[in-house]
Amino acid sequence: MKSTWNIVLIGFMGSGKTTVGQEVARRLGWSFVDTDDEIVRRAGKSIEAIFTDEGEDYFRGLERDVVRKLAGTKETVIATGGGVAKDADNLRMLAATGVLFWLQLEPEEIYRRIRDQGIVRPLLRVADPLGEIRRLVKEREPSYAQADFTIDARGTVDAVASQIIAKMNGWRGR
Ligand code: S3P
Repeated sequence: MKSTWNIVLIGFMGSGKTTVGQEVARRLGWSFVDTDDEIVRRAGKSIEAIFTDEGEDYFRGLERDVVRKLAGTKETVIATGGGVAKDADNLRMLAATGVLFWLQLEPEEIYRRIRDQGIVRPLLRVADPLGEIRRLVKEREPSYAQADFTIDARGTVDAVASQIIAKMNGWRGR
């Protein structure tokens, strides 16, 4: 598919941004990038190690740098870390060149998926992870809701990817 746009996936941890993004990119013949992978590559260490050694603020700075760079691309599917969208500048930069899709899931389903994945999420290393997910989802919802499209992320990777591609086919700009 030829386009001057990117596809940007936003939403909470565990909502499938990476797996769905890879599938969308594969079907469209576009590039795929994940902001977390880009940060890890630049920093030369894991997200967990960045949070432990330098702290969240430093991580958010790296995240902003990566977003700024990625916003300059086209025909790229960009999977963002769950916290990218809470920064208004990040959203503005991504929306300038990209169509924003919020992969929406209920906290209980997010919790189930994250527990089964076994990937370390520094922000959820707390006594009550489900409670923390509920709190963060509520806090971030107004940011995620600024997406051009809200996608029900409960289906299979194939089904969610199809929903995104269908919206993209009908996209004429905002
Ligand atoms: C974060 C989400 C993570 C990662 C970091 C912080 C967040 O990305 O960027 O652990 O603030 O929600 P995923 O959404 O890919 O898990």
